[in-house]
Amino acid sequence: MRGLLISWFLQFVLSLFLLNCGSSKKYNTKKGHVKDNTMLGLIDDEGVQLVLQNCNSCHSTQFITQNRMTKAGWKSTIRWMQATQNLWDLGEDEALILTYLSENYAPSATGRRQSLVVEDWYTLE
Ligand code: HEC
Repeated sequence: MRGLLISWFLQFVLSLFLLNCGSSKKYNTKKGHVKDNTMLGLIDDEGVQLVLQNCNSCHSTQFITQNRMTKAGWKSTIRWMQATQNLWDLGEDEALILTYLSENYAPSATGRRQSLVVEDWYTLE
């Protein structure tokens, strides 16, 4: 009897856990989208975890999200922080960090925003 109760309880806990896993699917994980607040406002894309690990301890991620730079621009910002602000050597992670930054926070003309689709053209008079 006791064994039965325990196994019933374990199944109950397991089903709660599974229900909870299912509900996390409501987040939009498409490229170019901000997933949820665990990304601290950063766009969810390959490399975001490295950026969170390396770029969030001295200042907020808003320093990133409010900037738009080319790859060379991001690289020189990183070199500047390394030379003057004690930013560490990013090692082999630097390449992916630079790709992430330059693709998601590019100068707006070359950013990833999709072209507008205009369905109703109208004539100017
Ligand atoms: C060791 C501390 C430290 C780390 C780690 C760090 N930064 Fe910084 N960063 C700074 C400081 C200090 C400033 C200047 C703050 C100010 O101007 O008040 C700064 C400024 C910036 C700026 C603004 C530059 C400008 O021209 O205004 C950007 C963008 C930036 N950081 C991005 C990053 C990125 C990307 C990373 C991860 C690769 C990173 N930071 C990691 C210390 C750091």
